[in-house]
Amino acid sequence: MPRPVGAATYPDRVLPEGYDIRPLGEGDAPALAAAYVRNREHLAPWDPKREESFFTERGQREDVEAKLAMAGQGLVVPWLVMHGADVVGRVNLNNIVRGVFQNASLGYWVDHAHTGRGLASAAVRFAVERADVLGLHRLEAGTLVHNVASQRVLTRTGFEQYGVAPDYLYINGRWQDHHLYQRILHDRPAGNSVP
Ligand SMILES: CC(C)(COP(=O)(O)OP(=O)(O)OC[C@H]1O[C@@H](n2cnc3c(N)ncnc32)[C@H](O)[C@@H]1OP(=O)(O)O)[C@@H](O)C(=O)NCCC(=O)NCCS
Repeated sequence: MPRPVGAATYPDRVLPEGYDIRPLGEGDAPALAAAYVRNREHLAPWDPKREESFFTERGQREDVEAKLAMAGQGLVVPWLVMHGADVVGRVNLNNIVRGVFQNASLGYWVDHAHTGRGLASAAVRFAVERADVLGLHRLEAGTLVHNVASQRVLTRTGFEQYGVAPDYLYINGRWQDHHLYQRILHDRPAGNSVP
């Protein structure tokens, strides 16, 4: 399968047989548009409301460009979960803040036809390892109160719930309460700190 120019592969990845994880690349818009069309109903309850353009190659090309630009600034790290040429999931480190915080927000989803086989848990474990390598100290994640599957993914990958935030995010057209989770990655000094 052709890979985007400059994309890394990860020999230590631990995804189920037949799946791969790799960085988002410039040529991924068609496969992403197809994935979002396939998963429109599956993702709708957990996502912001999407413009129609989001489900098109053009819309995805804009989104990919924006994400790669942010990645170039060190603000996000986006990966795709692949099954052959199909995008069947995503995992992202979002809202990266350095300095004394060294923190990122974790986001992920898995294609409706590929759930229930440990993919999200494997992708989250992968992102946790990479975040540690990148020198981040803490990952946070928020789930809707009734998103039991996502809560299960987080608890089995070492995250702990530390709170409930009322009206936390504007999801599927309204402000919704979330469970807040975090995982502390290490006890080393912050990258810019004197030990
Ligand atoms: C949540 C999601 C990422 C899980 O993906 P997945 O690949 O199926 O996850 P895994 O297979 O690694 O683990 C899912 C766990 O949830 C459990 N689970 C699934 N549906 C469940 C439900 N309705 N109630 C309780 N547990 C449930 C599974 O049994 C499994 O736990 P187990 O292995 O201990 O039995 C996927 O369903 C998804 O993309 N949902 C829509 C988008 C979303 O919610 N993203 C996260 C936003 S915070």
